[in-house]
Formats: sequence, structure tokens, C-alpha cells
Amino acid sequence: MLDIKITKTTAPKKLPDKDDPLTFGTIFTDHMFMMDYKEGIGWYDARIIPYQPISLEPSAMVFHYGQEMFEGLKAYKAKDGRILLFRPDMNAKRTNRSCRRLCIPEIPEEDFIQAIKELVKIDSAWVPTREGTSLYIRPFIIATDPFLGVRPSKTYKFIIILSPVGAYYPEGINPVKIWIEDDYVRAVKGGIGEAKAGGNYVASLKAQIKAHDEGYSQVLWLDGVHRKYVEEVGSMNIFFKIDGVVVTPELSGSILPGVTRDSVITLCKSWGYKVEERLISIDEIYEAYQKGKLEEVFGTGTAAVISPVGQLRWKDHIMRIGDGNTGPLSRKLYDSLTGIQLGKLKDIFNWTVVV
Ligand code: COI
Repeated sequence: MLDIKITKTTAPKKLPDKDDPLTFGTIFTDHMFMMDYKEGIGWYDARIIPYQPISLEPSAMVFHYGQEMFEGLKAYKAKDGRILLFRPDMNAKRTNRSCRRLCIPEIPEEDFIQAIKELVKIDSAWVPTREGTSLYIRPFIIATDPFLGVRPSKTYKFIIILSPVGAYYPEGINPVKIWIEDDYVRAVKGGIGEAKAGGNYVASLKAQIKAHDEGYSQVLWLDGVHRKYVEEVGSMNIFFKIDGVVVTPELSGSILPGVTRDSVITLCKSWGYKVEERLISIDEIYEAYQKGKLEEVFGTGTAAVISPVGQLRWKDHIMRIGDGNTGPLSRKLYDSLTGIQLGKLKDIFNWTVVV
């Protein structure tokens, strides 16, 4: 159990208006959590302090070799006033999987969850209540050794910041248009694609700009070796409903193991759907589309929740999915997931945790 020292702000910021639909990731709460690591000592000096800039040496290793990882989860306010986290144990476990791949020291799962709970409690007034909003929690770890040689750092900072957010995409629950990239690649098996590392996101920017310029919101990546198998969208995992079967790429080593992905698979199975986690080639998707069997496509993610896909563009082929509206499975998943997250529906899988 962490002994967290608390220093409260003397200058609280103005809370967003209750009716503000909120954008994603632009406003930050009054406090942040911080803890340091030093080889030989371990993690120490757990503290909650006013949200503020951090001071680092320009030689800090994170600036040069990108040794860092991050997580994303959300807190929701239930009607009865309880504040609920959604499956924080999954984020704690994934943090340590990312840490192992990136040679960052692990954090005990219970400390990770305790730090989040204590910080959210202190900034509980910032959990928004308007439909479609939540408090986004961003834990991250950075390498801080002032050193220019390439090796794992011996010192780190673990920081958690909070941001009241609305929909990640301006489209909200309405369908997004997705560009299938066959030039740039995001990750390859054996690389860091399955870790939640900033490096995976910077690798995605070039294609994202290309997609935006073509009028598409996001990029769907193909595997880096054959440029053939569908992997993930930069900010979410991807699902297809083909002829009644729910299909999603298997976790092949270059795909992020999403918490929402796992929850969607569980929900779909519990409703009697056949769910397949397997290799899916882009040719198979195009063939299903041509035969009229590509019934629904949607992305899943903490930030994106359930994001229906209305259009896929692959080379010169434009695939228009369904009738342009949110499909019935996407809608049911969105309602069920957010219903559980907000404490409106029975939490039969014990996914929510009270702060
Ligand atoms: C999340 O869904 O929490 C993520 O970390 C994706 C990020 C690109 C916003």
C-alpha cells in the first residue's frame, strides 16, 4: 500500500459548465499524482500535488530515445453519486506488460489502482455528468536519467493526470470514415506494437495526415510484413460483422490488447454471437462487402468507446457500410457498455470498481 502525501491546490480552477459537451483532452483537473523511481531504491515519494509543469533535464532520456509508456481509462459518475472506474485491473496489468517490453520498472497493480482512486477522489468534482462525457485518466511513465547513451534509464517518473472529456471523434456515436493504409506501417510482430508506447503513435502520424487530407478521420493499419492482414486503427481496435459472425483481428504481437476490445468480445459471446479472433485479410473484407455480407464495422477503445465505421477506403475501392447510420450491434454495444460504466445496467461481469 502506498503512503501518498497530499498537497492540495490553493488556487482551484473553474470547473467546466455542466452543459459543456467537452472536447477530448484539452482541460486538466486541479491535481496530479507523481512517484519517482531510482535503481536500488524502487518506487518512492508517492504524492498528489497541484497540476503543474514538470522540470526535467534537457538530457532526460525520454526526450532522446522515447523510453515511456502510457495508459488510458475513465471514471464515470453514476446517478446515485458513486464514481466508478471500468476494469482498472486490466490497465494495471497492461501497464506492466508495456513496462516489461520497454525495460521500464513495473508498478505493483494495487499501487497503480490506489494512486488512481486517491487522485480521482480528490478531483471528484471534475467528473462530468452530461451524457457522453467522463473523466479520462492518463497514467504514464517517463525515463528521466540525464544521459545520452542508449540503455534503459535508471530513474523514472510515474505521473497520472486527469481530463474531463467528451467524444474522441467529432462524429460522436455517428459513423466515421476510415482510410486503409497500404504504404506506411505502424508496427511489426516482435516490435513494440502491443505495448502502449508513444512511439507507436508517432509512427502513425504521417498516414493520419494523409487520411485527413483525403477526408478520412482515421487510419486502419495492415500488417507490416504482408500488407494484407487487418490490424488496428491508431486509436482503437477494429471489429467486423460478416454474415452474422463477429470477427476481430487476433492479438498477433503487433496489436494493442484493448480493454474495450476484450469487453466487447465478452458481451457479444454472452448475447450468443459467434466471435472469431483470427487473421482477416483486406481481400476477405472487400469480398464480403461485394457479396453484401459486410453488415457492420466498428472500432472499440477507451477514448473512442464504440465508434461505428460508415465508410472504408482501400486503394481505389470505397466500401459504404450499411445505410450510413449506426448499425444495431454497434448501438447495442454502446448502450450496454456505457450503461454498465455509468452504473445504469447490472454489472454482471463485475467490471466496475467504486472509487
Ligand atoms: C485510449 O483509448 O485511451 C487511448 O489511449 C487512445 C489514445 C489515442 C487517445
